[in-house]
Amino acid sequence: MKRSLLLVAATALAFVVPGCSKEAEKAKTPAPASKAAPASQAAAASSAPATAAPPTAAPVDPAKLQLFAALPEAIADASMKLTADKLDLGRMLFFDKRMSKAGDVSCNSCHGLNTYGVDNKRFSEGDKKQLGGRNAPTVYHAAGHIAQFWDGRAADVEAQALGPVTNPVEMAMKDGKAVEKVLKGIPGYVEAFKKAFPDDKEPVTFENFGKAIGAFERKLVTPSRFDDFLKGDTAALKPEEIAGFNTFVDSGCATCHSGPYVGGLMFQKLGVVKPWPAPADPAVKPDEGRGVITKNDAEKGSFKVPSLRNIAKTGPYFHDGSVGDLNEAVKLMAAHQLGRDLTPEQVKSIVTFLDTLTGDLPGEYIAEPVLPEVAAK
Ligand code: HEC
Ligand code: HEC
Repeated sequence: MKRSLLLVAATALAFVVPGCSKEAEKAKTPAPASKAAPASQAAAASSAPATAAPPTAAPVDPAKLQLFAALPEAIADASMKLTADKLDLGRMLFFDKRMSKAGDVSCNSCHGLNTYGVDNKRFSEGDKKQLGGRNAPTVYHAAGHIAQFWDGRAADVEAQALGPVTNPVEMAMKDGKAVEKVLKGIPGYVEAFKKAFPDDKEPVTFENFGKAIGAFERKLVTPSRFDDFLKGDTAALKPEEIAGFNTFVDSGCATCHSGPYVGGLMFQKLGVVKPWPAPADPAVKPDEGRGVITKNDAEKGSFKVPSLRNIAKTGPYFHDGSVGDLNEAVKLMAAHQLGRDLTPEQVKSIVTFLDTLTGDLPGEYIAEPVLPEVAAK
């Protein structure tokens, strides 16, 4: 049932957006790592005892619930071996500023784990306070996405983690070898890599650096009341939030923002129905997004559909961070992606639902670790 529904959605999209059929094809496959209850089960649970729900709760069509899924505990399969040693190493590396040229930027500088994996700036400050040209997306749930970055140029979080370290405007290290050199100069890391990669003869490698950070990111999940709701607890959402859920789905948002992460599963053109306005500054060229990577003209101006988990906390919005207000972002989406002019009440209703996607931060898991010291000279 879930498959066929997603298939309908995917087929419709393939029809609307020529050139995106490959992504749409992928999107119909449910996320492999999702440990969520099968949709049929969730639907059955939700329509179960009417007495469990408050009398005022709006009815929910099980078919709508099936477009989503509760978050898994970890976004990984067994082959990824998320051992405690690997997670601990990944956490240290995520927080370690010594992985940058000037020793002043870590992954956490731009993806603050206490602030839902973002820095809430339009553009982030990297090495020598240089700014990049895109808004930093959150690292929470990124591991479950179809690919990494707004344009999908890295396949997974393990590959992605190698990018910022040597990016000249981010952490600006010369190359992977330079990172390995820093790591080898810190005995605590040599030990930690050995424990995290016990089968490797030469565990301290740039590749393993990416693997450890990727492993750590695979447990960055923030379940919210929406997950309780999907698991069948209809009382988990207030009547106005359920009404907002209905407005969200009825408006067509879930054609693109669906699945366990309420997005993250496909690429879509920005301005698919009504052209997206060009950047306000004529000196700024429009970002061609996915089209630059695939060299496919039909994908010019396409971006990964972002996850809407924690969206109320991760502004400013869009690949260029051009919109600060969530109400405004919702209004623009409806107009440009769906050709719909939503009333202020409808926008408010959707935002009321989006607020339920704000989850609990995994406090202990993301606590800043003690970092190993450099060897005494
Ligand atoms: C200077 C700020 C900065 C630093 C430091 C930084 N990032 Fe990012 N990160 C960004 C920006 C900006 C993007 C989006 C770039 C793009 O899409 O082209 C991004 C994208 C990502 C993504 C993709 C998320 C998604 O939804 O596609 C992940 C995962 C990520 N970063 C993890 C990391 C890790 C791990 C580190 C440390 C090794 C790191 N970042 C360091 C700014 C930063
Ligand atoms: C045709 C596909 C599609 C539809 C339909 C759609 N979106 Fe989007 N959405 C996208 C894409 C693609 C982006 C990223 C655009 C960018 O930043 O360049 C996005 C971005 C967003 C963002 C900003 C996320 C962030 O992290 O910056 C919000 C909020 C959002 N959508 C909400 C909605 C809502 C609410 C609806 C229904 C009214 C909706 N979307 C309908 C494809 C879609």
